[in-house]
Amino acid sequence: MTGLQSVLDPAGAGGASIAALWWAMFGMGTLVFLGVVIALFLAVRRREGTELHTRAGDRLDTPDDRRARRFVIGAVAASLAVLLVTFTLSLFTSRATAALAEDGAPEIEVTGIQWWWDIRYLDSDPSRVVRVANELHLPAGRSVRIKLRSRDVIHSFWVPSIAGKLDVMPGRENELWVRATVPGTYRGQCAEFCGLQHAKMSLMVVVHTPADYEKWLAAELQPASPPASALAVTGETVFMRNPCSACHAIRGTDAYGQAGPDLTHLGRRLSLAAGELPNTAANRAAWITAPQEVKPGAHMPDVGLDPTELEALLAYLDGLK
Ligand code: CUA
Repeated sequence: MTGLQSVLDPAGAGGASIAALWWAMFGMGTLVFLGVVIALFLAVRRREGTELHTRAGDRLDTPDDRRARRFVIGAVAASLAVLLVTFTLSLFTSRATAALAEDGAPEIEVTGIQWWWDIRYLDSDPSRVVRVANELHLPAGRSVRIKLRSRDVIHSFWVPSIAGKLDVMPGRENELWVRATVPGTYRGQCAEFCGLQHAKMSLMVVVHTPADYEKWLAAELQPASPPASALAVTGETVFMRNPCSACHAIRGTDAYGQAGPDLTHLGRRLSLAAGELPNTAANRAAWITAPQEVKPGAHMPDVGLDPTELEALLAYLDGLK
C-alpha cells in the first residue's frame, strides 16, 4: 500500500522530537566510534616500534604508566559524559512527546484485534460515533488523544512518521497523544508479534487540513447509500441472510455485527484486510471468496456463496461509497 512510513521524515510533533533525538544519538555515536578507531590506530603504531620490557617485579610508575592511567581516567570520564548527555536528551524527548495533551482535543479509540485495527471516532453523542477499520484520519496541527485497547493479545501501535510506539494491552487502556503536522497519507503497523498474520496488521493514517477533516467526519456520519440497482438489492439480501451481517455492521441497515470491520462506507477505504490489498472490485471478490489464501488464520471465513450470490453481493458492496 502507498503511504510513507519513515522515522527520519517526520510529519508529527512526537515523530519530530524522536527524529531529532535519533540524529543527536547518531552524531554522538559516530564521534565515539571515530575516537575509538583513532585510539586503536595510534596504539597499534606505538606498539610496532617498541618491545615489551615489563617483567614481574618491575615498578609500575614509569612516565609511560602514568600517561596510560591518565588516559584511562579520561576515557571513563568521556564515556560518562556521553551517557549523561544522551540520558538528558531522551528525558527532554519524553517530556516533549508527553506535552501534547490538550483540553477538548478529539478522542479516537483504536482497538487492536488479530489482525486489524478497529478505529472509533468518539463523540459525547453516541449516535455521532464513527467507526472505520484500519484507517486513522487526523486533523493537521491539532492534538488528538488516542485510547489504545486490545480485544485479544498484546499488539503495538506504531506510526513512525507521526509519533512514538506504544503497546496495546488486553484489559487496560493506554493513552497516546499525537499531533500530526503535514497533510498526507502515512503508514503504520503493529510492532509487537501477535500471531500468524502479525506482519499483515497495518493501518493507513490520513492527515487532513482541519476543514477537510470535518468534511470527512461529516461524510462518514452518513448512513450507507441504499442499493442502486436490482442486482444490488439482491446483494443486500445475500449480505443480511448470510453470516456476513453477524460480523459486520452497515449503518442504516439491519447489520449490526461488531466482530469484524464496519462496512458502511467500504468503497472509500484505501485498503482491504488491514493494508494487505488495495481496495478494488477484483480484490473485494478475492478477499470474500478465498480469505484464507490472502491471510491464512484470519477470522474472516469463506461463507461459500454460489456465483450468482457472489455477483449480487459484490454489486451491493461496490455501491457502499
Ligand atoms: Cu498485532 Cu502484531
